[in-house]
Amino acid sequence: MFLFEIGVDLGSSRFRMYIPHKGVVINERSLIALNELSGDIMSEGDSVENIIGKTPPGIELVYPIKRGVINDLDMAVHMIKKYITGRTGSSVLRPKIAMTVPIVLTEVERNSLLKVALTCGARTVKTIPSPVAAAFGCGIDISLPNGRMVIDIGASVTDIAVMSLNSVVCGATVKIGGDDFTSSLIEGFEKHHGIRIGYLTAEDIKMNHTNFSKEFSVGGMSTGIKKFPHKVTSNAGEIREMMLDTVQHLGEGINNVLEKTPPELISDIINNSIVICGGGAKLSGLDRFLKTRLNANIKIAEEPEFCAVKGAVNVFKNMDCESGSMTGVSRDRSES
Ligand SMILES: Nc1ncnc2c1ncn2[C@@H]1O[C@H](COP(=O)(O)OP(=O)(O)OP(=O)(O)O)[C@@H](O)[C@H]1O
Ligand SMILES: [Mg+2]
Repeated sequence: MFLFEIGVDLGSSRFRMYIPHKGVVINERSLIALNELSGDIMSEGDSVENIIGKTPPGIELVYPIKRGVINDLDMAVHMIKKYITGRTGSSVLRPKIAMTVPIVLTEVERNSLLKVALTCGARTVKTIPSPVAAAFGCGIDISLPNGRMVIDIGASVTDIAVMSLNSVVCGATVKIGGDDFTSSLIEGFEKHHGIRIGYLTAEDIKMNHTNFSKEFSVGGMSTGIKKFPHKVTSNAGEIREMMLDTVQHLGEGINNVLEKTPPELISDIINNSIVICGGGAKLSGLDRFLKTRLNANIKIAEEPEFCAVKGAVNVFKNMDCESGSMTGVSRDRSES
């Protein structure tokens, strides 16, 4: 039987699938709505997104992936099975799956990711660290003796890797991503304006009001003893201030990797620019902040959210890149 290759990116925020010559065939929210009483699946993917923070009693939202690893095995299997069998046609019965994984993960975490793919009918599964996959996905040649740094800023984790000669020289997984910027806004509005705003409102502010000088109004529930709906006015400067601590922690995490990088490779990285990808890389102004903090040029990859899934299948051609067989990666998952 002819074996198809499929790239899978099981993200905390989005589930993506790529088929060579077809492109990104799935880009759906990694989220499932369950009937709390019966346990039945009511809906999944993008159709659930709009009810985040608005779920009526009796509906439970399940996030199959959290911080880059499996959070709910059954739901992850359900999601991947449904999409693989439902969207690729009956000819793709036993695909070879290349799965992106965090750069630092335990054997248990890796095995549960492999188990998900095998349970879904994969013939072969290979895992590839997401910044390595992203390097392939945005056309960076890591086979050369030339240091390249790629940073995949996802929803809940940031994976950092310095690569040369097809191996990871140093890297880390920092538990900060785009959703932490969103949480900083929720906390910021509570602290500075005394209102509680929802996740979807905070996401909208992060994506649409970080860059412009125009003031905008935000609605939420006051947090005082007497609770009532309340509208406040904010602006981009204030929004950036609310996210500053989180962005600074991210900068520190990246700098920690640079500190461990051999000086010759630092010189290459400065000459080549640091490439940032993942949906979090789209945060307006983040590239400028990192340029100042790290004293190096930063390049945002084209279609940053798709780099990792597009590059994953390269693991079948470059087995050295499979996670676990690479050298130099710090085994500690960074907490900051
Ligand atoms: N235009 C934008 N501006 C700011 N942030 C954005 C933008 N578009 C997407 N994001 C953020 O990118 C994040 C999702 O990125 P991505 O899809 O790479 O995550 P993921 O791969 O699902 O998560 P992870 O890698 O952490 O498991 C979310 O936090 C989202 O809010
Ligand atoms: Mg990701």
